[in-house]
Amino acid sequence: MDHQETSAELPPHILIFPLPMQGHVNSMLKLAELLCLHELHITMLLSEFTHRRLVLHANAQSRFARYPGFRFVTMPDGLPEDHPRAGERTIEIMLSLRKTGEPEFRRLMESTDRLSDVGDRRPVTCVIMDGVLSFSLPVLKEMGIPYIYFRTVGACSFWANFCIQEIIDAGEVPLRGKDEDKYTYWKKKEMDLMVTSVPGMEGFLRRRDLPGFCRVSDVNDTGFQAIKTETRRSTQARALILNTFEDLEGPILDQIRKHIPNLYSVGPLHTHLKARLAAKTSESSRASGSFWEEDKSCLTWLDSQPAKSVIYVSFGSVTILTRNELLEFWYGLVNSGQRFLWVMRPDSIVGNDKESQIPVELDEGTKARGYMVGWAPQEDVLAHPAVCAFFTHSGWNSTLESVAGGMPMLCWPYFADQTINSRFVSDVWKLGLDIKDTCDRVIIEKMVRDIMVERRDKFWQRANRMANLGKKAISEGGSSYCNLDRLIEFLRGMIV
Ligand code: UDX
Repeated sequence: MDHQETSAELPPHILIFPLPMQGHVNSMLKLAELLCLHELHITMLLSEFTHRRLVLHANAQSRFARYPGFRFVTMPDGLPEDHPRAGERTIEIMLSLRKTGEPEFRRLMESTDRLSDVGDRRPVTCVIMDGVLSFSLPVLKEMGIPYIYFRTVGACSFWANFCIQEIIDAGEVPLRGKDEDKYTYWKKKEMDLMVTSVPGMEGFLRRRDLPGFCRVSDVNDTGFQAIKTETRRSTQARALILNTFEDLEGPILDQIRKHIPNLYSVGPLHTHLKARLAAKTSESSRASGSFWEEDKSCLTWLDSQPAKSVIYVSFGSVTILTRNELLEFWYGLVNSGQRFLWVMRPDSIVGNDKESQIPVELDEGTKARGYMVGWAPQEDVLAHPAVCAFFTHSGWNSTLESVAGGMPMLCWPYFADQTINSRFVSDVWKLGLDIKDTCDRVIIEKMVRDIMVERRDKFWQRANRMANLGKKAISEGGSSYCNLDRLIEFLRGMIV
């Protein structure tokens, strides 16, 4: 067989390129493994910083060793090693890549002959990129490489971002006055006005529910403008992939399809991956893409708690709390009298002074009914019978993991897409409660009791119903299952 014949048999080679943040890497790694399972060749492009975190704390490196067509490559994100990559400064990762990413990406693609330099693989046949990395588009266009966008947010937030120009034209942003701190604008009456400029969301979306990017004092804000233009550019991609499912976000997906007809909803990716792994390899073990060490001792602690007795508390990978906010949450949880498992990331408190002078009643309350870890195996926690509800920041991965696990949510969105996700949880799907824009121990205590005790059964019923629809979506013949098959065919069809 000559070389040409051999390479004609090679599968498509897909470059997967996430924004280098935990939530983005997590879901795109899952898509990568799903495509590996269907024998596509995958190169995963990570920032050097992110790759180091994965190698240190996750099993992703060893996990993917089983797929001969898979490999990681890296490039710098343009930020110094010790740059804070959390809180409101997270946007700087995207802005830095917009400045420094293009030459790095060009060097990588050119020096490796479109990443075909090692082993038997074609030059990249298609790029699946996080839809906020458009700096790479000039290189792809010059090289004639087709690209597909993957957005790690839900359809609801994607669609609201897509409509930002209409929101600006309707005068519904900016939400924040110049020099107003968050506790001031949280209380403003205008925040409760209904949004009229996002089709499909009339009647339930208030200004305070718009994606957190709208909380700027100037519509020319660089981050806000970047989100607007990046989202609008999605129409130029060959397709759009979303980690969601039709029974969850169908009406909003239909709105998006009017502009982007080639749309694949393939979620929830974590359960979809588990199901296909089980079908193809009789294995259901979980790959971890964690940037922090998972503390599995919390599972042992959960084993010793009664069924449905614990509220799991986690605010994701980038939320930062002030000491005052930390204390409000802590008092609220302890005063609720409920058991709690709380993830407190090492970098999640301003000034990192959580240890200083913890009031004795909090210390005692935690010893009696609580457990804290720096990072948890979240999917396992949400599947544990002792867990009754999820007190979450409403990041999209956490929301979907909760939906798929049939777990009611108490939402305290921090920023970005989270503010709209929590509105959908509380007012559209009715799977939980939204306490956005408050941070008060009395409210927290009341809401924890509400979701854990008073309205527990009602929320559990609804959450179970939605979890079953999620299961149906990823089962053979289900919407996400068929969409993934169609996506794989589409990728195969791109070999020229
Ligand atoms: C942010 C956005 O809000 C999110 O919607 C976007 O898609 C990505 O960036 P983040 O704070 O990372 O999200 O939250 P989330 O999307 O919920 O992702 C966090 C991930 O970390 C989840 O997959 C969760 O399972 C995992 N996690 C979190 C752990 O494995 N252990 C923990 O202790 C906490």
